[in-house]
Amino acid sequence: MVTNKAPQATTDIWIFGYGSLIWRPDFEYLERQTAVVEGWTRRFWQGSHDHRGTPNQPGRVVTLIQDATQACTGVAYRLAADTAKDIFDALDYREKNGYERLELAATTNEPTPRVLNTLTYIATPDNFAYLGPAPVAELSQQIAASIGPSGTNTEYLFELADALRKLEVQDAHVFELEQQVRKLALASRS
Ligand code: BEZ
Repeated sequence: MVTNKAPQATTDIWIFGYGSLIWRPDFEYLERQTAVVEGWTRRFWQGSHDHRGTPNQPGRVVTLIQDATQACTGVAYRLAADTAKDIFDALDYREKNGYERLELAATTNEPTPRVLNTLTYIATPDNFAYLGPAPVAELSQQIAASIGPSGTNTEYLFELADALRKLEVQDAHVFELEQQVRKLALASRS
């Protein structure tokens, strides 16, 4: 039926993941949708002292960087209202190394596209663990060498790259790092 009514504001609670939440959400959800946030790009510019590195040898994990020319594809999860608070409390704790919550609009591409009001976690340049940009060779060396309580930094990168391939997402930054770190791993064996 055709209607002129404005779309209803939705009270659904969505979380947008662009990093480990794509491949390891660690929480229950009602619905999962591939979604895109415009004006942001995924970068390995955040230091990890507590998951994929240590205070003495921080690893590198992803954050979102504002860039009007770019878009970042990730995954949006719809949460049950009665579980959302516990999920966000747990993520606030897990991501205490410099991340903060941000509201972002994420667009799906289902049979009917939707614009979702999501919450996501970003690490801004003013946080204590931020490392910022570096040449690919340097980023790759750091990722290849780092390990923390959650495992190797290499595993984090490879899992993310695999998950993006499954979503058929092109991400030149992630795939270039993956290629370089694979080369370093091969070289270290010979
Ligand atoms: C994520 O979206 O996967 C994510 C990235 C950084 C911190 C928390 C979650």
